[in-house]
Amino acid sequence: MHFFEYRGNELYAEDVPVRVLAEEYGTPLYIYSCNTILRHFRAYDEAYKTFPHIVCYALKANTNGSILRLLEKNGCGADIVSGGELFRALRAGISPDKIVYAGVGKTEEEIRYALRSKILMFNVESSDELKELDRVAGKMKVKAPIALRINPDIDPRTHPYISTGMKEHKFGISIEEAIENYRLASRLKNIAVVGVQKHIGSQITRISPFVDAMKRILTLLDELKRQKFDIRYLDIGGGLGISYLDERPPQPADVAKKLLSLVNGRKLTLVMEPGRSIVGNAGILVTKTLYLKKGEGKEFVIVDAGMNDLMRPSLYDAYHHIVPVVKRKRAEITADIVGPICESGDFLAKGRKIARVGHGEYLAVMSAGAYGMSMSSNYNSRPTIAEVMVRDGRHSLVRERESYEDLVRDEIVPGYLR
Ligand code: LLP
Repeated sequence: MHFFEYRGNELYAEDVPVRVLAEEYGTPLYIYSCNTILRHFRAYDEAYKTFPHIVCYALKANTNGSILRLLEKNGCGADIVSGGELFRALRAGISPDKIVYAGVGKTEEEIRYALRSKILMFNVESSDELKELDRVAGKMKVKAPIALRINPDIDPRTHPYISTGMKEHKFGISIEEAIENYRLASRLKNIAVVGVQKHIGSQITRISPFVDAMKRILTLLDELKRQKFDIRYLDIGGGLGISYLDERPPQPADVAKKLLSLVNGRKLTLVMEPGRSIVGNAGILVTKTLYLKKGEGKEFVIVDAGMNDLMRPSLYDAYHHIVPVVKRKRAEITADIVGPICESGDFLAKGRKIARVGHGEYLAVMSAGAYGMSMSSNYNSRPTIAEVMVRDGRHSLVRERESYEDLVRDEIVPGYLR
């Protein structure tokens, strides 16, 4: 569900024509719908309202400060994976007691920063990390609150690159080794065991992997209880999918109903880490056609957005709908929609049926709010593009387009070259 719709022949972002935004702010351009983000956040908050819970938005999906601020103002917490994300979360005003910190490679500096900031808990991914956390916390004379990230060995049936909860993955601690790691944690003086966490993958479009993983985790919780561990937080991770093409993923409420029926009666706070399902359909990438070209047996539509702006098609062969910002009656062609980057892998769509678009026409790449801007780069020295937020009939620039000067700002030429 989102607020990008045609009114007549024009695509609107809430109450603003996308064409107007493209003309005012230029292209390529990311546009975010405030009301869509809010609606998705509330869908989670409502779905779990009968049970103590904290929604910790996974920053990695989109780190724009205005999005974080919007979520914070509505009571949202943060799931972070780096010092940089911690900085952004705190800067947006997110309360440290709603911040959880995952990731297999936390550095000492990052651990110190998170301990100083008094975050809710570290989601620890190995026994080595547990010992390092104990050592650093000891030096700082504090206790580090932790959950162990447990790998329940459940196949989420999603793209292999974004599946994380199976035995062969680098993430988490295997469920067989969970108890011994909890025992280790309880022996470490500067560690406070407070939770269990799991996250099995992303763009999951069925309920069963969530349910199966939860059942395994609850068996572990029972064992931990028998062994007198005081587990207060059960962090169920993120991963709920969205509709890019014709997927029909369950709603947060559908998942909540199943999961709550499993946890009911337990003294716990549920933590969840949704990313894509909050911002994915709340953002579009607007691009302009530059050239039309007939290749060997196919056509190319060359646009001004490239794989550096939206990497998902190149990296995962991901599908994103691409639609004209202003619809007109015309024949369809089958074309590759490609960017200006010097790589054959630079495409937004391959063999796509699309209206025969003209020069200088605006196209909208749909469902680009998650893992779009946050995975973008300056490859080919292309300045990072602008981001705009729309709320009802109002629109604001929430990140300026970079300049050429910005590209070289941090470079230093050593004296011997001057
Ligand atoms: N929690 C943890 C520990 C994670 O690793 C992730 C995502 C999330 C939460 C949020 O998952 P979500 O609700 O967004 O599915 N770049 C890929 C997605 C990578 C996801 C990485 N981890 C893509 O563009 O599809």
